[in-house]
Amino acid sequence: MAGSVITIAGGKGGVGKTTVTVILASELSQQGKTVCIVDLDQQSTCAIALGLDDVTEGVAQWLEGKLPYAPTPFDGVSLLAGGPQLGRITTLDPPRLKSRIDKVELDYFLIDTGHAWHPLSRLACTVADKLLVVSDPHTLGLTGAAALIQRLPENLPKAFVLSKIDGRRNLHKEIAQQASAVFKDLPVFNIRSDAALERTLSEGLANTRLRRTRAVEDIASITDWITEDPHV
Ligand SMILES: Nc1ncnc2c1ncn2[C@@H]1O[C@H](COP(=O)(O)OP(=O)(O)OP(=O)(O)O)[C@@H](O)[C@H]1O
Ligand SMILES: [Mg+2]
Repeated sequence: MAGSVITIAGGKGGVGKTTVTVILASELSQQGKTVCIVDLDQQSTCAIALGLDDVTEGVAQWLEGKLPYAPTPFDGVSLLAGGPQLGRITTLDPPRLKSRIDKVELDYFLIDTGHAWHPLSRLACTVADKLLVVSDPHTLGLTGAAALIQRLPENLPKAFVLSKIDGRRNLHKEIAQQASAVFKDLPVFNIRSDAALERTLSEGLANTRLRRTRAVEDIASITDWITEDPHV
């Protein structure tokens, strides 16, 4: 059976998409699900976040049909790495991407998008079964997320993730309140700011003993929404 496609997107860069993607993939895999991260970032940040380097072939070759599905395995999670080769993919239609995905038997594909307005990011939203829209506690992040959500089909299941919240800061508390009002029709997940988790992205899960901090628990709580059937 074809896996569910969960796209992790945001209206703005640097908001925490990759961090959410990698921790979610790890959590789902610990729950016994088969998961592949599809990294659409030319900087190949998911490989870095997992602690893998020298991943030379990945999603670009797979999308172009030059490679069979050959992900890099990492501790129960598979990765189709991003990389500069993604820059040469300028045309790819949703049915072609969907047909690539449908050939692979997995529970979940987590697609980590790059820039919100990049054609590949938009394509990843088009083929999603569920969409996570991430923002940091910044008004421009909320505006960008709201604009992104508005452009997508109403019947696509979506959730909003407010990442990197520092509970000691009044601005962050105000933005969290605004977010629950703006996205009142969607599930909203708040992720606390966490220095240990921040380190994971640059040093990699393979090199960092990921403590089950509150922020990791916050991200893990999103798996219930991912695994629940949208039609019940
Ligand atoms: N909960 C958190 N607490 C503290 N820092 C965080 C948290 N989540 C992410 N970060 C940090 O914020 C920065 C951006 O995170 P990340 O790379 O996941 O964002 P992104 O949306 O994927 O960025 P890009 O748009 O460049 O792909 C990184 O330094 C990361 O370590
Ligand atoms: Mg990223």
